[in-house]
Amino acid sequence: MTIDSRRRPRRLRSTAAMRRLTAETRLNPAGLVLPMFVQEGISEPVELDSLPAVKRHTLDSLARAAAEAAKAGLGGVMLFGVPATDKKDPFGSQAVAEDGILNRALATVRAEVGDALVVMADTCLDEFTTHGHCGVLAADGSVDNDATLEIYGAQAVAQARAGAHVVGPSGMMDHQVAAIRDALDAAGLQNTSILAYAAKYTSAFYGPFREAVACSLEGDRRSYQMDPANRREGRLETSLDIAEGADMVMVKPAGYFLDVLADIAATSPVPVAAYQVSGEYAMIQAAARNGWIDGPAALRESVLSIHRAGADVVLTYAAMELARECCDTCDCC
Ligand code: PBG
Repeated sequence: MTIDSRRRPRRLRSTAAMRRLTAETRLNPAGLVLPMFVQEGISEPVELDSLPAVKRHTLDSLARAAAEAAKAGLGGVMLFGVPATDKKDPFGSQAVAEDGILNRALATVRAEVGDALVVMADTCLDEFTTHGHCGVLAADGSVDNDATLEIYGAQAVAQARAGAHVVGPSGMMDHQVAAIRDALDAAGLQNTSILAYAAKYTSAFYGPFREAVACSLEGDRRSYQMDPANRREGRLETSLDIAEGADMVMVKPAGYFLDVLADIAATSPVPVAAYQVSGEYAMIQAAARNGWIDGPAALRESVLSIHRAGADVVLTYAAMELARECCDTCDCC
């Protein structure tokens, strides 16, 4: 294609209406998922220093916040549980227990919102284990892949029975998607979807999240989460998850991994999600608090960029703020 060199690209930037009409990518609440935390044994929601506007909810406040998310037109919510410290054990038993905090939260939220929102569950053991790893440990202290798969299967079944529309395996064990699909199918839960954290990297940007879930991890997750040096491997992990039955795949973190996201979005036959993680959100909020950056504009730009790179769905702590802004400036809802 030859392009007329006298063409003036600025014509399409001349008015707000022209820019709006010709935008290649749009922010829409329907494509946003809000991650939410629920804590066992508290009577009031707890604010989180490093994650402004994010709380550890009680079951009641969680239900109210989920109803607000539905009203704001969000696509979904992703729930994380924070069990009482004395209920953690080396096997993460509370992740599977019907009365475990996350499973109770799923039931509560489903009772509140029904099918108005897609209710998703983090399927992982790190919040529930005393050692804070995403799986169970072998005798030598390493994370035991195949022993963990069995627990993930049981956890996914418990989450689906509690009311999750979607389970989100985030532990980066090999073959976790296949194990979970088999367990769900064997339990008659063929309609429960799997959002696979397919390309999930070891990241310093998970810092504030670990405070949010009071994770007990000492050490790191480098033997199971991916090395940030690797781009090609993102395609390998994603292909495996799709072959194992993932209904959607996810890249995480999002903002610093847009190359990986663009690679995957270019070829994925299933919807692609990306997770703007706690550190990405916290940095923008911290700079905004200092008056160094325009917070709302930076949040908008960062999430728009994630969509532009190819994400159909973005998980972000800014979901409510972005949805409200969108509704203030459009007349679609
Ligand atoms: C694991 C999990 C983590 C996050 C989501 N799921 C933490 C980790 O892998 O250490 C991080 C999300 C964030 O930083 O916002 N259950």
